[in-house]
Amino acid sequence: MSGALRSGAFRFGPGSGIGLAVIDSLTAHAQAKIDGLQAKSLARTLKPTHRLDGVWVERGGRRLISFSCNDYLGLSHHPAVKAAAVAAIGIYGAGAGASRLVTGDHPLFRELEGRLAALKGAEAACVFGSGYLANTGIIPTFAGPGDLVFIDELAHSCIWAGAKLSGAEVLAFRHNDVEDLAAKLAAARPGARHALVATDGVFSMDGDVAPLDAISRIAMAHDAWLMVDDAHGLGVLGGGAGTARLFPDARIDLHMGTLSKAVGGYGAYVCATRPVIELIKMRARTLVYTTGLPPACVAGAIAALDVIAAEPQRVASPLAKARRFTAALDLPEAQSAVVPIILGAAEAALAAAAALEAQGFLVAPIRPPTVPEGTARLRVAFTADHPDEAVDRLAWAVRPWLAR
Ligand SMILES: Cc1ncc(COP(=O)(O)O)c(C=O)c1O
Repeated sequence: MSGALRSGAFRFGPGSGIGLAVIDSLTAHAQAKIDGLQAKSLARTLKPTHRLDGVWVERGGRRLISFSCNDYLGLSHHPAVKAAAVAAIGIYGAGAGASRLVTGDHPLFRELEGRLAALKGAEAACVFGSGYLANTGIIPTFAGPGDLVFIDELAHSCIWAGAKLSGAEVLAFRHNDVEDLAAKLAAARPGARHALVATDGVFSMDGDVAPLDAISRIAMAHDAWLMVDDAHGLGVLGGGAGTARLFPDARIDLHMGTLSKAVGGYGAYVCATRPVIELIKMRARTLVYTTGLPPACVAGAIAALDVIAAEPQRVASPLAKARRFTAALDLPEAQSAVVPIILGAAEAALAAAAALEAQGFLVAPIRPPTVPEGTARLRVAFTADHPDEAVDRLAWAVRPWLAR
């Protein structure tokens, strides 16, 4: 590379020569990467999808029943949730206008944070723009160089991203393996170093639940803090309050979750003690340096929490549908609304998804790096609005793939 390129002292655009060479090189680099992904059946494309309601979608001119949405309660299309979002736009406008710490802290945030804290039995809450932003903001607020972060190996990508950003030493423990966690905590001897243990409550691609009581005991024994990402538990498990409700003895320091799954909208939150939340609001870079959620998202989330509180039948339904499916296929009983059908090779997952789509089902294939190498799968997500008859038909359609 020339000195001019290394120093960045070059011009882009017609006649510059150098700029064009850089653009060509970048394009070639991108194309080579794409070719490599295509050769391994790992290329991905965005497919325009019109979600007609909680379960039906229109894609490529066809109507399909989706078993791929995280809208577990169908609240993205609930009339009360939509009406609340529309009303908020009328009152507060379409956007927050700035970071929450500048002028973006519209009054709806206070109401939503109060509701979330009460639901989690916590002193306070902080709402973020998304789950990804929450995890990449929260972890570096409490862990830094010299500290330790222990993460379940199958935890969501944004927990890993947050841990890496923190500069702390990051250690994986085997999935849901409390003995491995205990051994790693003991070996690392946190001592004066802060240690944070982070796990999903419900694992997004596996649908299983973390043993939060045992994890919390071990974390406490080693003076480590525990953070749980309950993106897929809120609104589905524990009567809607989330996975922690299944483990009343667990001590969880940071209850994180999203507003983009069962709550049906967008955004995320963390609940904790008041000083912990105050520090997050002062120091989490993904809160400080980014625009607040639009009022419509916050109002929609409040209305969705109302539905969750008022309709226990709806809340119980995704797990019941998932269990109907696992029973029909003699699979281990579903623990959440998510059921994986692990097929191994990426090609197998693509072929199964295409075959199901031909039969009118939308079941997204999930491939590495979202899941570990050799564990490509169909990820089947159940919602309150799936008719039992459709669940049974899907089980019938999936059965031949299990046999393979
Ligand atoms: C466990 C988990 N945490 C965090 C996220 C990120 O949330 P968001 O989509 O709001 O960024 C997701 C999925 O999107 C998730 O499955």
